[in-house]
Amino acid sequence: MTDRGLRSRLGVEVTHMKTPEIPAISLAGYDDPQHPPQHVVDAIGDALSTVGFMTVVNHDVPDALIDAAYAASRSVFAHDDAALAQYARPDLGGQVGFITTGAENSKGADIPNLMRFWHIQHRLNPDWTNVWPEETPAFKQAMLALMDAFDEIAQKILAAIDVYLDQKVGTLWQLIRGGPSLLRPIHNPAPLPGYDSIGTSAHTDINVITILPAATAKGLMVQTKSGVWVPIPVVPGSLVVNTADMLEMITGKRITSRPHQVILPEGSGERFSIPYFVHFIKETVLYTYPDGTKFTAWHYLVRRLTEIGLWDYDLSEVPPEPTF
Ligand SMILES: [Fe+2]
Repeated sequence: MTDRGLRSRLGVEVTHMKTPEIPAISLAGYDDPQHPPQHVVDAIGDALSTVGFMTVVNHDVPDALIDAAYAASRSVFAHDDAALAQYARPDLGGQVGFITTGAENSKGADIPNLMRFWHIQHRLNPDWTNVWPEETPAFKQAMLALMDAFDEIAQKILAAIDVYLDQKVGTLWQLIRGGPSLLRPIHNPAPLPGYDSIGTSAHTDINVITILPAATAKGLMVQTKSGVWVPIPVVPGSLVVNTADMLEMITGKRITSRPHQVILPEGSGERFSIPYFVHFIKETVLYTYPDGTKFTAWHYLVRRLTEIGLWDYDLSEVPPEPTF
């Protein structure tokens, strides 16, 4: 079935599948990140090399941590943009603090995303200091605890990918420890009456993997390799995990990074989500040009942040993005 209302207004064809093509993977019994079970390796490898998205269940992240993070996020975003503007740090590329509605557009998009969000660095770049809202003291503790829990999941998933790629367990995690991973609590305001809204237009993620606790409403969808947009189900208690550009690049495209978007149909309420973007340390080499020039995680990060309007970085000394 095709939702013709969405297609007519947004130029996007949305296919509602009776059986979603998003693999659901259980981490039950996977306790030691040094020894990923083979059935988990196979399932994660298949999912992330084809669809690029999966839902993860039995993951051991306590519901209470996720609930506390969403409650704190709702509390912060109960304040309007003007009230939160004091927490914006545009001089730091929007990499910490509050980012106002419409500040970001997806790469190549000509309209901004209808969302506002907060950036929290996990392991701080020495030049950056996290910014915390005075109105909601619980926000800091909830978000830091969530990032610690998500790092444990990231380590397990990356270990499974190591085995899938026939490399030593821990190879990818060694490139994450100390890297600039960040959490992004997002608020998509409800669409105006009579309109659908684009919460986030089609894009691929910049980083390595993204971990998202089930959002408070539907709207996220992924474009499969066949070109069809498939809704990501909202399964309470699950995590949505997707692979991103840096992992696709460093694996020579054995792992895929798929376009995705958030569309809120007319009549939707507001939506909250809290993706955790797991990043490589900035010196990680993603690609080496024939002349020996290294294209690093930092090069890709500053290129993309400049492209999406969050940073105005001098790119004159940054190697071009590889195309392969
Ligand atoms: Fe994304």
